[in-house]
Order: sequence, then C-alpha cells, then structure tokens
Amino acid sequence: MRIFEQLESKVRGYVRSFPVIFESSKGSTMVDESGNEYIDFFAGAGTLNYGHNNPIISEALIDYLKKDGVVHGLDMATSAKKRFLTKFSETILEPRNMEYKIQFTGPTGTNAIESAIKLARMIKGRSNIAAFTNAFHGLTMGALAITGNTFYRDEAHISRSNVSFLPFDSYMGDDFNTLDYFRKLLEDNSSGLDLPSAVIVETIQAEGGINVASAQWLRDLAQLCHDFDIFLIVDDIQVGNGRSGDFFSFEEAGIKPDMVTMSKSIGAGLPLALLLIRPDLDQWKPSEHTGTFRGNNLAFVASTEALSYWDNMELSNAVKHKSEIIKTELERIADKYSELNPSVRGRGMIYGIEIKELGLTSQISERCFENGLIIELAGADDQVIKLLPPLIIDEESLMKGLLIIDQSIGEILEERKSRMGQEM
Ligand SMILES: Cc1ncc(COP(=O)(O)O)c(C=O)c1O
Repeated sequence: MRIFEQLESKVRGYVRSFPVIFESSKGSTMVDESGNEYIDFFAGAGTLNYGHNNPIISEALIDYLKKDGVVHGLDMATSAKKRFLTKFSETILEPRNMEYKIQFTGPTGTNAIESAIKLARMIKGRSNIAAFTNAFHGLTMGALAITGNTFYRDEAHISRSNVSFLPFDSYMGDDFNTLDYFRKLLEDNSSGLDLPSAVIVETIQAEGGINVASAQWLRDLAQLCHDFDIFLIVDDIQVGNGRSGDFFSFEEAGIKPDMVTMSKSIGAGLPLALLLIRPDLDQWKPSEHTGTFRGNNLAFVASTEALSYWDNMELSNAVKHKSEIIKTELERIADKYSELNPSVRGRGMIYGIEIKELGLTSQISERCFENGLIIELAGADDQVIKLLPPLIIDEESLMKGLLIIDQSIGEILEERKSRMGQEM
C-alpha cells in the first residue's frame, strides 16, 4: 500500500476504510491481490447496481472497442448515443408516459446537480433554492451549497448562500409535519424565506443516513411546489436506476418532477450523468452549459445494455423480493443486539441500521471488512451502517453478507464483554 500513501493525496477516503489492493471483481464480489474475496455491499456507492463486470455489459464494450466505435465525441451525434437515446426513450420514458428532454452534463453526479440548479435559477430569475436537512448533492460549489453535512461544508471557505434548508420528512419526529412548516414560511411575507426557484429532494437520503420520505410527503411536496410556482427537482443519482425497486425512486409516489438528476448506475459502472428536463423548461441556448466529457460513448454502450434489464419486470420484482430478505434479516439482527438500541430503515435495496453509540458503527464496518464484507457508513455522524448491494446479487451472497454483519456485531460485543470482565 506504500505507493498510495507516498503519492496519492491525503484526500483519499475509501482506501482507508478498505485498505487492500483490489485486483478483480465480478458480480457482487471483489478480490484483492492476495486472493481474498469480499462480498460487496457498497457497489461503488450505488454505481454498480448491475454488478461488477456484468458479462452482458463487458461483452458489448469489448465488441464496441474492437469495431473502433467512437470513444470520445464531445456532444457530437454518435451511433452509441443514438442507441442510448432510443433505448432510454423506448424502455424508460414511453412506458411511464414521461416526457423529458435529456441533457448530458459532465460525467459525475455533481455536474447534473449544477446544471439543474443553474437552469432553475435561470428560468425563474430567482436565486434561492430550497434543500433539505441531511441532503447530499455533491461537492462542487453549487451542489455543496445544497449539501447539509458540516464536514463537507467546512472544506471551502467561500460563500454558499442562496440556499434555504428545510426539515426533511420526519426530521422533527413523526408528529410534526415538516411541510406544514415549509408552507407556513411560504405563506408568510415576513418569514424571511425568499421564494425558491426550486426545491431539490432525494426521496431516500442515502449519504444523509437512509432517511426515507413517505410517498404522501413526496406528493404533498409536489403539491406545495405547484401551489407556489417552484420547480421540483428529484435527485435520483443514488437511489434511481432500480435501487428502490422501480426504475425511478419517485414512481411509487406517483409524482412528476420538473427535473430529475441521474448518474451513478445510469452508466452501469462508467461515468455518465443526465439531467431530465420537462420539455418546456429546456431553455438553454446552444452550448450555454458545456463540458468536454458530456456523454461518454463507452458509458452509452454500457448503459444501453443495462437498460435491457428494464424490458420486463424481472429485476424490479427481484429487488422487491430481496428487499424483504434484507429487512427481515436486519430486524432480526436489531432484535438480537437490542442492548445497542439499533433502528432499521430503508426501501428497496438500500437499507440502514442505525446505532447511535459513537464510533461503534466504524468498528463494525471495519470488522465486517476483516470478515469479508465491504460495507460503508452514512449519516451526519456515520452512525448508520448502509447496505447497498448490487441489485443483481444472488440470494446466497446476500444472506452471507447479512450474516457477516450479525457475526461482526456479535464479535465486537463479545470482546467488549470479555474486556470488561478482565477489568473488574
Ligand atoms: C444523491 C446524490 N446526489 C449527488 C451525488 C454526487 O455525485 P458525484 O459524487 O458523482 O458527484 C451523490 C453522490 O454520492 C449522491 O448520492
């Protein structure tokens, strides 16, 4: 690992949590240079919904490269882009009766966010954006401004204004309707809240600690946006692409966002980000918002193949089935270690188990890794163990991973008890 410590910036992160050199990966398994295998419950932070080196996708990529397909074409028309647009329209938009224009932004999630908030501000001529507590939308300056966590906000000491943070669903407990509060602020000319051009929301806050907005709350939010002439932007970067069980995470709520940001698994492991725009809001002038890597042709090839998973309901049904397994097992684990007061929450194949005792979740994630499971943390204090396996994971590996969590918590508690026994 010395070369990484010597040469790679201190900003490196995940290499610290998972300190081995990974050499290969397949499906839901990663293998290090010593041949140790790890079940992956992290899936590239939601980028590998279709698994590592999915053979259908790899073959299409190899074939494309062998035929000298265009790899980089700025935003010129290419055959790969044409196939992607056709597939996305036929497989995703048309069956859902959705009409969106597709903007290819720079290749990473935060680029799509920057485009969305810039367009919203431009059209409405209003600078304020409403974001929610515990939101995570990326770390370029515009996206950082609408991201809640102080850890990230501390990183740059310039103005991150023109954003109003409002309480997310259940932020104030189950008896407080946070949208009543939002509505009251909007109705009151003296509340100090500048009318936002847009509200941006994650239906399930992933980095923020697996906070799931109810379908009713999302519908009420859409109504509020409608009532006050505010755009609704859904950030589906982490929990879109089937993570919730539907292709878009907001389908269950039946809402129609004005814009949707997509990245991570839309590129099936390769860098790709999109902004879906309600057609009448596509008010960009040609080349008004550019970038060298808008629309990566290899990612188009990968994505077009991955979208075939949505030709029928098989993947969606499988996610819903595996979701039940995860929920049942996590509730069993929470019950077994009730002295830690764990709470379980999630939807589809994104789940979290929250343990408030400071530092314990880090120990658990570390121990899971030693026991062969890659799993990350989420939440303001990293207090939530976050499960995000590839959607295509087989049930045996899923159960194995869940048992590693159980075993790892058990080991840590046993060791703690025996240490306390020795001290007495
Ligand atoms: C909901 C959400 N939005 C935006 C981003 C930013 O994406 P990226 O890291 O690709 O810039 C992330 C990344 O985790 C995310 O989870």
